Parts: sequence; C-alpha cells; structure tokens
Amino acid sequence: ILRSPPALQLTLALIKPDAVAHPLILEAVHQRILRNRLLIVRRRELLWRRADCRRFYQEHEGRFFYQRLVEFMASGPIRAYILAHPDAIQLWRTLMGPTRVFRARHVAPDSIRGSFGLTDTRNTTHGSDSVASASREIAAFFPDFSERRWYEEEEPQWR
Ligand code: PPS
Repeated sequence: ILRSPPALQLTLALIKPDAVAHPLILEAVHQRILRNRLLIVRRRELLWRRADCRRFYQEHEGRFFYQRLVEFMASGPIRAYILAHPDAIQLWRTLMGPTRVFRARHVAPDSIRGSFGLTDTRNTTHGSDSVASASREIAAFFPDFSERRWYEEEEPQWR
C-alpha cells in the first residue's frame, strides 16, 4: 500500500556555549541528532550579542536567573539547527531531557542534559516548546529561511 508520508514539523535546536566549547560533547550531541533521524535542514555557528539573548529569552525577564542566562548565552559560540521530523518538537525535547540538571540526572540520566548538563544554566541544549515558539525562534536565527520555500523546493527529495 502506498501511503503519503507524514508531514514534517520543524523545530529550533541550540547547542549552548558549554557544549560547543567541548569538542567531544559537541560531537556527541550532533550524533544524537543523526542517530534519532532528525533531519538537519539548516545549521550555523554564531556568537550571540547580549541584546539578542535578552530578546530571545524575554519571557524569563525578571526571573532570578535571567541575567545569568543572558551572560552565559553570550559568553561563547553556539550552534543553531533547524531540525525536521514528523514529531520534531517533542522528539528533540525528549532527547534533551528536563531543564533542571538534577532532575535530568535522576529522571532521564541517558538524555543529553542528563549526560552532559552541568547546571540549570549550563545545560547543553535548548529546544522550542511549541509550534508558535518554533517559528519565532527559527526566524530569530535564520531570518532568510522560508518554510514554504523549503517544503516546495528542497524537502521533496526526502519524501
Ligand atoms: S521554567 O522554569 O519552566 O520556565 O523553565 P523553562 O521554560 O524550561 O526554561 C528556563 C530557561 O532558563 C534557563 N535557566 C534556568 N531555568 C530554571 N532555573 C534556573 N536556575 C535557570 N538558570 C537558567 C534554562 O536553562 C532554560 O533555558 P532554555 O534555553 O530555554 O532551555
């Protein structure tokens, strides 16, 4: 039986400065993306300015960790990916594990954060938490990316 393939969902994944600075961890996280059959649509490495971090994390403004988070995310290179999969948002969040490092170590010790997270701030990776935040976050890192153009012009080779 010929079935049409499931629609692909996109998510934004970040590898944070703590993991980019460590070649073995960077490679291990990248391998988990490949091993779990997330399709890498776009990828770039960049240094973030503080102003970009503040905008990106504006929903956390006022929380005790906000300043620390902004400083950390601007402290060194990060890697951003657009990932595609029928269940990309949830799959990537499951692979990352819980935000809090002690929770990650206990509840999901084999997850990315459970394996490599250092603290609640230096926790290796970020992932969009909804379809709406995925499109906002993808636009923040890949302003020239058009999902429609990608789907029509590039994605067919994977269907
Ligand atoms: S929360 O508490 O439910 O709002 O947490 P969450 O939305 O998952 O993400 C919070 C982001 O802030 C970073 N961060 C911390 N969170 C909680 N506690 C402390 N102390 C803390 N310090 C930093 C955390 O890594 C999340 O970053 P992202 O990049 O969104 O995963």
